[in-house]
Amino acid sequence: MPSLNFKGKALVQNFHLLVPFHELKPVKAKSLTTKPSLHDNLVVHGDNLKALKALLPYYSGKVKCVCIDPPYNTGNEGWVYNDKVNSPMMQEWLGKVVDREDLTRHDKWLCMMMPRLKLMREFLTDDGVICISIDDNEVHWLRALMDEVFGEENFVATIIWEKVYSPKSSARFFSENHDYIMVYARRKESFELGLLPRTEEANARYENPDNDKRGPWKPGDLSARNPYSKGVYAIKCPGGRVIKGPPPGNYWRVSEENLWRLHTDNRIWWGEDKNQVPAIKRFLTEVKQGLVPETIWTYKEVGHTQDAKRSLLDIFGDDFQVFTTPKPVELLKRIIRLCTEEDSIVMDAFAGSATTAHAVLEMNKEEGAVRRFLLIESEDYADTLTAERIRRIIKGVPKAKEKALQMGLGGTFTFVEVGNPMHMESLLKGSKLPSFEDLAGYVFYTATGEDFDERAINRKTGFIGTSAQYDVYLLYEPDLEYLKNTALTLDMARELPKGSGKRRLVFAPTKYLDAIHLEEHRIDFCQLPFEIYKAIKPKKA
Ligand SMILES: C[S@@+](CC[C@H](N)C(=O)[O-])C[C@H]1O[C@@H](n2cnc3c(N)ncnc32)[C@H](O)[C@@H]1O
Repeated sequence: MPSLNFKGKALVQNFHLLVPFHELKPVKAKSLTTKPSLHDNLVVHGDNLKALKALLPYYSGKVKCVCIDPPYNTGNEGWVYNDKVNSPMMQEWLGKVVDREDLTRHDKWLCMMMPRLKLMREFLTDDGVICISIDDNEVHWLRALMDEVFGEENFVATIIWEKVYSPKSSARFFSENHDYIMVYARRKESFELGLLPRTEEANARYENPDNDKRGPWKPGDLSARNPYSKGVYAIKCPGGRVIKGPPPGNYWRVSEENLWRLHTDNRIWWGEDKNQVPAIKRFLTEVKQGLVPETIWTYKEVGHTQDAKRSLLDIFGDDFQVFTTPKPVELLKRIIRLCTEEDSIVMDAFAGSATTAHAVLEMNKEEGAVRRFLLIESEDYADTLTAERIRRIIKGVPKAKEKALQMGLGGTFTFVEVGNPMHMESLLKGSKLPSFEDLAGYVFYTATGEDFDERAINRKTGFIGTSAQYDVYLLYEPDLEYLKNTALTLDMARELPKGSGKRRLVFAPTKYLDAIHLEEHRIDFCQLPFEIYKAIKPKKA
């Protein structure tokens, strides 16, 4: 099989594993809720590589649909490759705007995307799906990269979105009027694509010229190109005409026996004169409840770029800030409608103006659904644009043209800053000690590989959650004196709650009990960074 190669690939292939976990700090003043929580809708401010890694303990395997719209690498977006990969070549790339003159621009883009896509894949449910907006600058590289990260067998489709409504006469060659949306499933066998609502127009194609009791129907072709061993025979029409066989190169779709069985059930249409090439009657009552989506989406169906800008203008009015690449809400709504259920989590790690959140909230209101969004944006406008759009649409924009927006869509969200990395050295120095919750999430997820839910924490006992194998405890405070003086003792072991009855996994700076007592209390002990122990020299051995 051909494989994708690019400069820096060897360095970024496992980079997502090396990215340290970072703290996640909810900011109440920027949130729209009385109880900021990582289990709310989220707007995370920070580079998505760090933010994704930090969110992993909470959301791995839980996101039904990732919708992303990364920089297209057009050469004039001003994006900069900034990942701190440890290599002189990559260090040289840092901080420089990637423009059209840059001979390594595709390499840089792939180096940026690869670790992020690998992390995003970790978030998807088994039946989850990722939809990526892209254009001709990177579509071919992205397809090869996706084949590598998600597997060629999980490719679902590349949709063409007609993004503009009129040609650009200034175009040097063709006036481009489409972008792509590339769709890959986490596991294609498990993924179910939804249907689009049936339209009046589609229903109007069904008629009832013979007043069939079963209602309106549409004629379906009886012949097809697929070879079929019982599909070549002559047909004598009820009107007397003899049809020698299917059209050249074609086969009847049904055997002769089946044809006459269908005829007896009045499911074959022979035309008014009963002498036409037979067609199968497809009844409206028997077709799927929705329409199978096609791969070309027109601006009439899902909006165009001007609609997207107008929507932002409608929300921000005089406070409008220039944002050049918003997507239309209808486009995101269609993706979400096809790829999620009413309680799914939708993630957008290149959030921009928060169109994904807008689509989720609008659909929740329309359907009484409870989908949630997880948004990540690195720029400072994470607060003033991304979160601000959400604040406005939740509360309502009285001057908006759209009725639903005037009233407000309702909902809550928590604004989160990506904090310090949880390097073991920082625990050692005691300078940037992570909060109890952050460290709990980190140790729980890294030790068990299972999702962490900080709502299970009991600070009195140090309990931080139950995994398939363990009840997990953490003896920790973000205080160097506490760390110096805290150890798991026999008394503490005796007082550990019964919990679920599973073995206990206890994280603590050190322990003052031997293997026999640990086993007696069914404890597996994990020392918090070994370096702390070495540096702090506990009072007793
Ligand atoms: C094309 S825009 C997305 C527009 C969005 N779909 C909308 O409708 O508004 C891409 C966004 O990704 C953000 N971005 C780029 N690199 C990022 C990174 N490493 N981490 C987080 N956000 C990033 C950019 O700042 C920009 O806002």
